[in-house]
Amino acid sequence: LQGMRTKVLGQKVHIYGEVDSTQTIAHSLVASGAPEGTLVLAEAQTAGRGRMGRAWHSPAGKGIWMSLVLTPRVPVYFMPQLTLLSAVALCRSIQKVCRVDIGIKWPNDLLIKGKKVSGILLESSGEDERLKYVIAGIGISVNLKVDDYPEELRKVATSLAIESGTEIKRETLVQEFLLEFEELYALYLEEGFSPIRLLWEALSVTLKRPIRTYTPNGVIEGFADSLDDSGALTVITENGEKIKVYSGDIELR
Ligand code: BTN
Repeated sequence: LQGMRTKVLGQKVHIYGEVDSTQTIAHSLVASGAPEGTLVLAEAQTAGRGRMGRAWHSPAGKGIWMSLVLTPRVPVYFMPQLTLLSAVALCRSIQKVCRVDIGIKWPNDLLIKGKKVSGILLESSGEDERLKYVIAGIGISVNLKVDDYPEELRKVATSLAIESGTEIKRETLVQEFLLEFEELYALYLEEGFSPIRLLWEALSVTLKRPIRTYTPNGVIEGFADSLDDSGALTVITENGEKIKVYSGDIELR
């Protein structure tokens, strides 16, 4: 990566050909002392991890599969806020490099016309109720063609190239993302979650829409109303009850 404009993020970059998962590599780099901002990039992943134990399709050379090391000294329960911050940074950087109508589905899926183009997986380690480090794993389907997707993904997944009609330079997008992230992260550490929350809400395709979510206590259906200070989604059910959703996945109905 040439001509980095960030101060901390991406100052140390490790680039690999094929790996199992950039997350695994980032964890072991941290264990051997890698500092905040360390970035791991791979051309391909053989065991890319998604949220909730799912796999992440990461074919060679077509996407951005990366993991970023962060060491925010904030309480462990602030993790959801960092997840939402990552989605905002990613969404804004994509809007800068290509013309697509992209939005965030709670908590951090990026969708174009209802199809997923990018996903974020945060893994952390805590100590004394504070985060010791966070690995932000980011997958962006950049230049995949329809044929690069297995049949079962074609209805639910897409790429920036498919949707914008042009190939995108991956280096440019990685750099824009790091810049956006660095700016928002500084704002977050200084002013807290409020400014990030406003930005997230403006980019959301979830709020004020009918949604469904599956919880250990059953299915909840209602309208996604707002985001609270912790990053939880407030859902208003048909009988007017307010329910907070802290984790998991939602479906747009
Ligand atoms: C999701 O939407 O479920 C999250 C997907 C996260 C995928 C990225 S690709 C780079 C990093 N390494 C992984 O194994 N997963 C994340």
